[in-house]
Formats: sequence, structure tokens, C-alpha cells
Amino acid sequence: MTHGATRAGDEQTGKRGMNLTLRIWRQKGPSVKGKMVTYKVTDISPDMSFLEMLDVLNEQLILQGDDPVAFDHDCREGICGMCGVMINGQAHGPQQTTTCQLHMRSFKDGDSIDIEPWRATAFPVIKDLAVDRRAFDRIIQAGGYISVPTGTAPEAHATPVPKADSDAAFDAATCIGCGACVAACPNASSMLFTAAKVTHLGLMPQGQPERNDRVVNMVAQQDLEGFGGCTNIGECSAACPKGISMETISRLNHDLLGALRAGARPKS
Ligand code: SF4
Ligand code: FES
Repeated sequence: MTHGATRAGDEQTGKRGMNLTLRIWRQKGPSVKGKMVTYKVTDISPDMSFLEMLDVLNEQLILQGDDPVAFDHDCREGICGMCGVMINGQAHGPQQTTTCQLHMRSFKDGDSIDIEPWRATAFPVIKDLAVDRRAFDRIIQAGGYISVPTGTAPEAHATPVPKADSDAAFDAATCIGCGACVAACPNASSMLFTAAKVTHLGLMPQGQPERNDRVVNMVAQQDLEGFGGCTNIGECSAACPKGISMETISRLNHDLLGALRAGARPKS
């Protein structure tokens, strides 16, 4: 099925933009069968973001009286982790960035682009390109917290942290929970996400009281959610817009072994 053309020219330069063919996964609801539907968009500026290009398509669909394509987004600045679709089979598309930070200059005039939702049992489709990523929230709830006294913030130098640890913790803390690691992994494993959350707290002095319980409970929860096991393929890290490294998975495994040896067991 092919739908009509849309226009979004570059009004400032007067240059004509790109003409593209979009094949988009349309699915009315979680239990309804979906299918790829073809749309044409014309005069797309290379300076548009990928989501702005979808906005143009949706404006046209609304004007035609058609149902716009549902997709998740919030900040559009690469911060919130809400956006994320498979673009020509790659999580977030051809650049190592979020879908909202991907620009149409990464494509050529005349290109065909396949756009699909994240594919993972633990991320069921809500509608079209929007998936339910609450499984990540439940993994965080299982242990991604620290116990801290409330009140005013402590003096910054009161708790010394080695520079290497603070750098590694900060790198892990840049995970935005987008789910690209799961979508890119042939096993649909959430190991990189869980490892990032375990690592950024486990390297800090404040994260030590719950360290053992945290790792066993978060790993148990990711298994309960139906994510696959990690077999060290590395697609997760290659797709991660924040460059979370495979080393964080090694840190998680190290923590997990230590916790099990110390007698920690999952809550339920
Ligand atoms: S590890 Fe990377 S790809 Fe996975 S959720 Fe975090 S930011 Fe996204
Ligand atoms: S919309 Fe927030 S990261 Fe893309």
C-alpha cells in the first residue's frame, strides 16, 4: 500500500530536498497483526532530524484524514531515551546516536528507508513504532538505588573517590535507558543496560551497602522480564548512543560472582 507525497522544502535556501520512500511498521495495537506500509515523502531537508521527517509525514497523514504514525519521543536532544526505532535494520539508524539526533543528511535523495519498532519479547509493541519499555523500570526498581540519609547534600570532598572509579561510574551513568542495546542484540539481552546501572552505583562508596543485593536482584529481574542471555556478541555496545562499553558487562559479572559467593540471593 502506498500513500501520497508530502512536502517540507528548505525555505531559506530554496534548494529542493530529498525524495524518500518510507516503509513503516503499522500496528494498531498490542494484539493486532502489523504490516509494513509504504509512504512517499518529498522535499525533505537534509538538516531535519529523523523525527522531524516523521513529523512531516504525520502532518500530511492527518491532513489526509489518516492515522498518524505513533512513535515515542520527549527531549529530542539525546537525553531522555524515549525515542528509538530500527532504521534499515539498525537500532537508531546508521550513526551511533539517538534517533532524535540522527539527521536526514545521513541519507541520500531517492533512498528507501525501513522503519520498525524495537523487536524484543520484553518490549511489546504498543502501537506502530512505540514499544512498552517498562521492563527496564522494573529492573531499576529491583536494585538500582542507594540508601542515603535525606537532608542537605554532604560536602563534596567528604567522601574521596579514586579518579578512575569516578570516571568509570560517570561513563556508565550516561546510559539513557533507550533500549537500543536490546534491539541490536540477537539474543534481545538487556545485559548492557543492567550492567550500566549496576556499575554506576557499585563503583561509588555510597553504592556499597546494597551492592551484592543490587546485582543479584537486577539480574534476576531481567531474566524474569524475558530478556535473553548475553553471549558477548557486542552488538549492544556498537549500537549504544552513549558508547557504554562491554567492560561494564565484565564488571557486572565480576560483581555477580562476588555477590553469589558472599551468599546473596534474589529476593523472590
Ligand atoms: S546501554 Fe546504551 S543502548 Fe542500552 S539502554 Fe543504555 S544508552 Fe541505551
Ligand atoms: S527524544 Fe529524548 S533521547 Fe531522543
